[in-house]
Amino acid sequence: MLENHIHLKASDNNSPVILTPDSIGIGPEIHELLAWLNRNITAIQKDLSSLGAILFRGFNIITRDDFREIAEKVDEKQMTYVDGNSPRSKLKSNTYTSTEFPADQFITLHSELSYSNLWPLRMMFCCIESAMKGGATPISDNAVLLEKLPKEIVEEFEAKGLCYIRNLHSGYGLGPSWQKTFETDIKSEVEDFCKRTDSHYMWVEEDSVRIKQYRPAIRTHPISGQRLWFNQADQFHISNFNADLQAAYEALYEGDSMSRPQHVTYGDHSEIDPSYFTEIRKLIDEIMLPVSWISGDLVYIDNMRMMHGREPFEGDRTVLLTMFK
Ligand SMILES: [Fe+2]
Repeated sequence: MLENHIHLKASDNNSPVILTPDSIGIGPEIHELLAWLNRNITAIQKDLSSLGAILFRGFNIITRDDFREIAEKVDEKQMTYVDGNSPRSKLKSNTYTSTEFPADQFITLHSELSYSNLWPLRMMFCCIESAMKGGATPISDNAVLLEKLPKEIVEEFEAKGLCYIRNLHSGYGLGPSWQKTFETDIKSEVEDFCKRTDSHYMWVEEDSVRIKQYRPAIRTHPISGQRLWFNQADQFHISNFNADLQAAYEALYEGDSMSRPQHVTYGDHSEIDPSYFTEIRKLIDEIMLPVSWISGDLVYIDNMRMMHGREPFEGDRTVLLTMFK
């Protein structure tokens, strides 16, 4: 139970719980927020597994260093973004830009690193500068999605599991390079990482590497014990692109889906019915909630419980990210 008998409850309109200096009875300075978080961290993390996300608003979080200080002190299990598939820059001590994907494109909702077996349990986003227009972070509930999905999709995904395939070039090509993905230039470090994480690797022509990861589609949350839809199959599939890009990829790879920058099949290598992805995306659209940023906002999110994405935006936008095991 949190101090002052505050027990976090989902808000009526289903948006994330919003905590302000007034609502938790402290001042707006970072040291006060940190002290409050540290006193209540066990209860907050437990509540987070059922609430999904908590938004802290109205605190004096102004610079990247402010966020770094909070991220370092609130949860010591910070992790790197090794094996990630989104373009982002590493700042100091495992804080990253949230993504450097083009501003005019919508980033579809996903559970971070769910194709890996080293995924973050929790994440923290911080808005240093909100966009002039757009740029919200939509979130959606993986427990609700699992409940709403047609039974035949859930059963087939669960029974067969998934195989995520990535082809990572060595500097020039579509998608990220293996050096950027694994934060190293040393091949043996890539191989060691793959061995440690049950990832299959194969070096292919022109110094590229093909990674295959066999993972379940549904996982159980370690704190809440809840079964959750926890995969990125819809995002790895070519149908995630618009029609022009799909046609371009088909032409470039001439039907050789295994050579695309990324692809997904069932765990037995059979192809997934594309109509399933249409259904999954339709349901995510129905249940997603946009988190509109105000500069200084901090969102603590349970990565297993909630997916996240990014709306297009105009103007400068700085949202930082850190991940916790
Ligand atoms: Fe992400």
